[in-house]
Amino acid sequence: MKSKVLITRRIFDEVIAFAKGHFEVEENQVDTPFSPRVLIQKLRDKAGAIILLTDRIDENVLSHCPDLKIVCNIAVGYNNIDVQACTRHKVMVTNTPGVLDDTTADFTWALLLATARRLVEGDQYLRSSQWNGWKLMEFLGYDVHHKVLGICGLGRIGQGVARRAKGFHMQALYTDVIRATLPVEKELETRFVDKRTLLSESDFVTLHVPLGLETTHYISKAELALMKPTAILINASRGPVVDEKALVLALQEGKIAGAGLDVYEREPDVEPALLGMKNVVLAPHIASASRETRLRMATMAAENLLAGLTGKRPPNLVNEDVLQ
Ligand code: DGY
Repeated sequence: MKSKVLITRRIFDEVIAFAKGHFEVEENQVDTPFSPRVLIQKLRDKAGAIILLTDRIDENVLSHCPDLKIVCNIAVGYNNIDVQACTRHKVMVTNTPGVLDDTTADFTWALLLATARRLVEGDQYLRSSQWNGWKLMEFLGYDVHHKVLGICGLGRIGQGVARRAKGFHMQALYTDVIRATLPVEKELETRFVDKRTLLSESDFVTLHVPLGLETTHYISKAELALMKPTAILINASRGPVVDEKALVLALQEGKIAGAGLDVYEREPDVEPALLGMKNVVLAPHIASASRETRLRMATMAAENLLAGLTGKRPPNLVNEDVLQ
């Protein structure tokens, strides 16, 4: 008999077909997140699930789903999952590391360049028929080349961002809880500094830390106050890494020059004041959203599911101790 699995949101047909080749699949083609109550109802008789970062798997869900053996997140971040509770309930947790690094690093640059060079503002200006010819003093932005880039978190994505900075002849600084090895620093041409130095010396500050207790509001009022008034903040990590209200205030008071954001503290809600700010570029959490990468992420999740439900070690197991 095939194991029952749930796919909580709309994903690629080919991945659903793959899953159907091995499991009895219940899917959600409507593509809106299940409420916690409905999620429990749907998961109650399932052995596994492919989920998105909009699905919260916590003690409440787990205690109602005794048959559950594995949850496979289609994301590298897994702050939507209470991993310790999963381990207690003997539920394996998997994610999709590696495959989205370059795509996310590319998008970080898209945000940075769009914000510095006022691309979205210019696009809206032109589309609304306001442009009546070339002007010397129109849409003056900030140069990116030869400036100082501050990378918070030199993991795989942060490294991808640093690698791309070399093409812009930037001076790259980074800060992290653990210093990178000298060969990595040399290859990336980046210098390790403390957070305070990074914030006060950088023209662009880009965030690539995972969300956890220590990184919630990693950028708040005090940190924003250290930044240059000409600096731009880029966040393509997780929304709660930035205190969004403090960011609004800093932008309103001219403490920093702009922000490029892909993630928000209370997604899908966004601080209303940000919506009216021309010096802010806002994207709907799409840094990894190239067709190729999202397909690879979904495929990885399905492969993790298959391994986990056929007695093998899932390749991207997050909670190793669950196997003991
Ligand atoms: C992740 O993978 O954690 C992203 O936020 C979605 O790609």
